[in-house]
Parts: sequence; C-alpha cells; structure tokens
Amino acid sequence: MSNAQSADGQLRMESPLGPRMRIGGREVDYFCGTSYYCLHSHPDVIEAACVATRQFGMGPGTLAQMQVYNDLQDQLRTWFNAEHVVTLISGYSSPMALLQGLRDAFDIVFVDAATHYSARDALRTLVKPIHSFRHLDPGCLADALARNVAPEQRPVIVTDGVFPSSGALAPLHEYRRAMDRFEGALLVIDDSHGVGTLGPSGRGSLQHAGLESDGNFFAGTLSKAFGASGGIIPGSGELAEKIAANAMIMRGASPLTPGAAAAAAAAMHILQSNPEMKDNLARNVKQLRSGLRSLGFDVPETPVPIISVWGGPDLEHLRLKLDARDIIVRVVKPSGYSDAPDVPTMRLAVFSEHTPEQIDRLLSSIAELI
Ligand SMILES: Cc1ncc(COP(=O)(O)O)c(C=O)c1O
Repeated sequence: MSNAQSADGQLRMESPLGPRMRIGGREVDYFCGTSYYCLHSHPDVIEAACVATRQFGMGPGTLAQMQVYNDLQDQLRTWFNAEHVVTLISGYSSPMALLQGLRDAFDIVFVDAATHYSARDALRTLVKPIHSFRHLDPGCLADALARNVAPEQRPVIVTDGVFPSSGALAPLHEYRRAMDRFEGALLVIDDSHGVGTLGPSGRGSLQHAGLESDGNFFAGTLSKAFGASGGIIPGSGELAEKIAANAMIMRGASPLTPGAAAAAAAAMHILQSNPEMKDNLARNVKQLRSGLRSLGFDVPETPVPIISVWGGPDLEHLRLKLDARDIIVRVVKPSGYSDAPDVPTMRLAVFSEHTPEQIDRLLSSIAELI
C-alpha cells in the first residue's frame, strides 16, 4: 500500500481536512496541521465564503470598504474584547505589522532563538539592534538584558506564545519577571497557535497566562483555529493608528479576501454558539497527552493541541507503520522547522472533532508498534 506522503513530503489531500479524511486515495485518521476545530471544512464556513465571494468577488482590487470586513471586525472585537482588531492578508505578516507599529516605543530587541520565521523576518525590517536568547530560557533572557540594555534604552521581547512544532508554551511570567527592572519594556508575541485555543474565552496565550495588560501585545492568524486565512492584531484604537501609520503593508497590500473574511466570521460564530467544541478540544488534548505519557513519552500537562515526542523509537519507521494502518501523523526532520530540535520529532495535532475512539486507536497503535 502506498504511503500518504509524496516524495517531497507533502500529503496528497483529496477532501477538505478533518479528523477522518481522504488522503492519497484512502480514508484516514488525520493528526496533522493546525485546524484545531476543523472549521476549514465546516459546511457553514464554506457556505459563508461562497456567499461572500459571489457578492463581493475575490477581492476589492484596491483598498476599499466592504460590509463583509465590517462584519468580521465586529466579530473580532467581541471575541478579543478589543477596541479594534487590525486585519491583514496573512498571519505571517501580522508580527511585522505589529512590531513596525510599535517601533517608536522600543530601542533594542531580544528574541527567543526559535521564534517563528514570521517574527524573525519582521525584525530585519526594524533596523534596531537584535539579540537572541536561548529557546524558552528566561535566565538567558535576563543575562542578555543585563549585558546589553544601556541606560534609557527600552527593550522589546519577541517570542511565539505557542511554538508551532513542539507545542511548547513560552514562559511568559518568567519573561515578564526578567523584564521587570526595565521601565517600559514591551512583550510582543506571535500567538498564531494560541488564539482560539487558549484562555478561558479563547483570546490566546496572554489570556491563558493572566497577562492581558499594558505593554503586552500579540499578533495572530485566522488560518488555524479560526478556519479561514488572514492576519489579526487585536488592541486599542491607538495601536491600530500606529500600525496604519508605520506598517506599509497596511497601505501597499491587498486586504484578506471577502471569502476569507466571511469564513472567519462564520467560524467564530460557530465556536461561540457551540461551547462544547472548546470542551471537546480540552478533553482530547488531555486524553492524548496522558496516553502518550503512559507510553513513556515525556509530555507535559498543558492545554496545547500540538504534542511533540522524540527519543526512543525510530519515528519515521513508526510514521510509516501508522500510515499503513490509515493513521496519518507528521515527523519533522531535525531542525526542519523554526522551533524543531536537532533530532527527529513526531508532531501530533489533536482536534475537537476527533473521537475518543480515534485517539485510543492512535495510542494503542503506537503502543503496539514501538
Ligand atoms: C507561529 C506562526 N506564525 C505565523 C504563521 C503564519 O501564519 P499564516 O499561515 O496564517 O500566514 C505560522 C504558520 O504556520 C506559524 O506557525
């Protein structure tokens, strides 16, 4: 039987994504990617995208107002309890727009060495001194701050909230403590995987950590939990004005498509009207994390739906054996992604829509195969 991955490592998807879907000519259980509520394939989300595309086309062809953007703005403001939520064409560009918007408020940058490419690319546009600190290491951050911040300089600390490959949570409290003695220090996080999944009402890593306060900022995406595509930056009206003034992407790039805007608004509406989806995600994350622990993997107890394991068995061999049982998982090559370690890792993504039986089957298959 053929393996679901083609030679270039890509999956050949033949249906909308889902917990059970068609890949490479077979119906399989799918534990990859980032659509944590499977909203990219929800009929109401697809329908909303089609209706908006028929009404407004693929885009305005310039910068223009369309009702579909106002509707998304209303949804986003409510979801994030924010005065304004800046939207832009992609999640990848949202840390750039946020950092450029804030650029007059900091002088020197400290970045977790494994921060996503999006923020690391963005830093090059700022023309400010940049220092890296060891991945997830507040002690290293504290040393770097002590060694490099001159009197009167205001630092910004840049990190992912949730790391996309490992699923690790940034130690935001410890970073804040390390920053305490630097007045005006800012924390800027790329929370692409935190928005929609973390925090009591899904506002992300800052809400989860109880750190929604002045000086802490985040950028996110609509392309993961929110079932669509496009970048978002929730915040104050003042922040939105700074972004409009400083970030040229706001003047020189097309907005997200009307279809994506309508899809994201519909996805948020579904999540708000079906709170059990968040409960199911939490249940599934717990089941998979504790099951992997009982198989001997070192897996922390967190609510993050990305779970990475390494060490022990030959993971590529395990992936192929799981594939032969119609269970699709991803093995990330050493250093094969922004935060991937220098050994192979098996990255599992768990969705609200997986059944407990599917997770049991994954766990019992791994138990039999290792
Ligand atoms: C941490 C992080 N930031 C940004 C992005 C880019 O987001 P988008 O695909 O919505 O452009 C990704 C994408 O996978 C990501 O993992």
